[in-house]
Amino acid sequence: MNFKNTPRLETERLILRRFVEEDLNALFAIYKDEKVNQYLPWFPLKTMEEASCFWQKQYVSAYRLDRAYKYAICLKDNNIPIGYIHVSMDDSHDLGYGLCEEFWHKGIVTEAARTVIERVKADGIPYITATHDKNNPRSGGVMIQSGMSYQYSYEEQWQPKDIFVIFRMYQLNLDHKKDRVYKKYWDNSAVHFIEKEV
Ligand SMILES: CC(C)(COP(=O)(O)OP(=O)(O)OC[C@H]1O[C@@H](n2cnc3c(N)ncnc32)[C@H](O)[C@@H]1OP(=O)(O)O)[C@@H](O)C(=O)NCCC(=O)NCCS
Repeated sequence: MNFKNTPRLETERLILRRFVEEDLNALFAIYKDEKVNQYLPWFPLKTMEEASCFWQKQYVSAYRLDRAYKYAICLKDNNIPIGYIHVSMDDSHDLGYGLCEEFWHKGIVTEAARTVIERVKADGIPYITATHDKNNPRSGGVMIQSGMSYQYSYEEQWQPKDIFVIFRMYQLNLDHKKDRVYKKYWDNSAVHFIEKEV
């Protein structure tokens, strides 16, 4: 077992662990839902075949790497995935998450995020970032409750959905460089600004 690749974690209510093949039905339920996947950079899955390919591409290949944080979020009651939470290993160290709608409004993703952040900090990741569509402010709520701070906004013609989006970027520095700001999205977008009211 590689301890730097999605090490199993527990919180008060949750088990955070890898997605395995037996989870394909649960994974499909998470990734097929139109509402849950509206603000995410893929189209909702349509078939179990697509779910299997998605699992291979997004999860199995990540679990082969030296390091990854690609979690299924499960309730301790039954250990069945109801959502996911990731931290990417590129220089954005992007935090991403999604949860089946019936479990929203219970603080589940914040509980998962706090524990994953503790773990990546202990493993030496210097900072994390996260972005959300301005029209999806509940995702910003998770970022704030997880200790992240708003840094800036930027425009993007977002793929693969090919829609115009204003993103808000949040960051949490986990080392001593408290003023570090990840500027890649700012630098790559011609239109970037700081919203005073955020
Ligand atoms: C955004 C999303 C992840 C939020 O999930 P969530 O688990 O409901 O979010 P939180 O952890 O912030 O839960 C906070 C809510 O739980 C409530 N809550 C209940 N018990 C709680 C507890 N013990 N601790 C904290 N909050 C609790 C809070 O009052 C708050 O209620 P509200 O949503 O009515 O304001 C979820 O809506 C989702 O999956 N959306 C679709 C995918 C998506 O947009 N992903 C992000 C793309 S950038």
